[in-house]
Amino acid sequence: LPLAQVPITAVPQRTALSHAFGALAAALVGTAKYFVFAPHELTHFVTGAIVFEVLLGFLTFTGSIMAALKLQGVISGRPITYPGQNIVNLSVLGAAVVLGGVLAFNPTAPAADAMFIAIAVLSVIFGIFLILPIGGADMPTVISLLNAYAGLSAVAMGFVLNNPLLIIAGALDGASGLILSVIMCKAMNRSFANVLFGAFGQTAKASATGGEEKNHRVATPEDAAEYLRNAQSVVIVPGYGLAVAQAQHKVRELFDQLTKRGISVKFAIHPVAGRMPGHMNVLLAEADIPYDNLIEMDEINSEMAQVDVALVIGANDVVNPAAKSNPGSPIFGMPIIEIEKAKQIIFMKRGLATGFAGVENDLFFNPKTLMLLGSAKETVGQLVNEIKQTA
Ligand code: TAP
Repeated sequence: LPLAQVPITAVPQRTALSHAFGALAAALVGTAKYFVFAPHELTHFVTGAIVFEVLLGFLTFTGSIMAALKLQGVISGRPITYPGQNIVNLSVLGAAVVLGGVLAFNPTAPAADAMFIAIAVLSVIFGIFLILPIGGADMPTVISLLNAYAGLSAVAMGFVLNNPLLIIAGALDGASGLILSVIMCKAMNRSFANVLFGAFGQTAKASATGGEEKNHRVATPEDAAEYLRNAQSVVIVPGYGLAVAQAQHKVRELFDQLTKRGISVKFAIHPVAGRMPGHMNVLLAEADIPYDNLIEMDEINSEMAQVDVALVIGANDVVNPAAKSNPGSPIFGMPIIEIEKAKQIIFMKRGLATGFAGVENDLFFNPKTLMLLGSAKETVGQLVNEIKQTA
């Protein structure tokens, strides 16, 4: 597909495919070099670098393909777990590392070729095993971590080929992937270990609902327009649903209509709203929404109690108070945009479905909340028409 045809919401899986093929190329170059090099060229250092390159290359290849398939929904995004899984995974990786160490110390051992093939096979298997227990919600972080692995594999390839450009480019790639993963983990208040081994998203539904029957209030676009017209300050919280619906230009019209009436409109930006860092900033910039009206989470939270209407458009996890109040929730500890403090909450989404993390949101049933149901583009359009009808 030409790049222009990949929707912005599919960029994480598209990126995963790039890592997959980059890593496969590195692994194949390493394999070719291992078999092409004369025995005297396979020094301890070169063999060690080849092993590192092949191990990271093959595991990144299968790991990235698995990640892309999970994100695309080709295989279930839910974590696939079984007892003793972490031990099995670490044993597979451990076996590959030990064999790699033995080979690097003894590059001309009689069973060297068999060891090399075993390392490659174990790495391919480990890439699959690594991703199985990771839930869809953690996949963007994992993809960025795999980006770092692909970069490190390229660094090793640079040493094998004696190519300084590859070493530098690989190191930049590896470092940027790692930094991005750290930023994402920080924004979700999670550790690397928790992302890789936490099987996030598996117990989500059970922990949040408790099985009781709860009621929610549904609003029409007329009701919602009435609340917005009477407000002095409105905070719009954009999320993944806004991106899917491509509602940003309609949101710009809503912004214009409200600000024309002297209403203060700010956009609350959560660092992991959507599916990639900066996702909401990019979307809103596409619709020329003034950058000064985009407010970071911490700043907007401090003024949320004075906000008349918090209008959530296609966001869910990033406003879910379970992250603060429910220690049993998988998103517990993630900082959120605290819309529950606003005087009125309006959720714009298609139904009562959960967000990416699979966690139910009790805010839908809060007496302050109105659910404005429908796809974001159409609903924002209806809202704009309602508001336009009044002077
Ligand atoms: P989500 O929690 O995924 O919620 C999005 C909501 O949008 C869904 O509940 C869905 O509900 C609604 N929706 C879907 N299509 C829609 C449409 N056409 N019109 C209106 N609504 C629609 O989104 P979020 O709040 O942005 O949170 C992001 C999630 O991704 C978090 O869990 C975060 O941890 C995770 N994540 C993000 C990143 C980065 S870097 N952004 C990295 C790692 C993880 P309905 O189906 O009911 O409409």
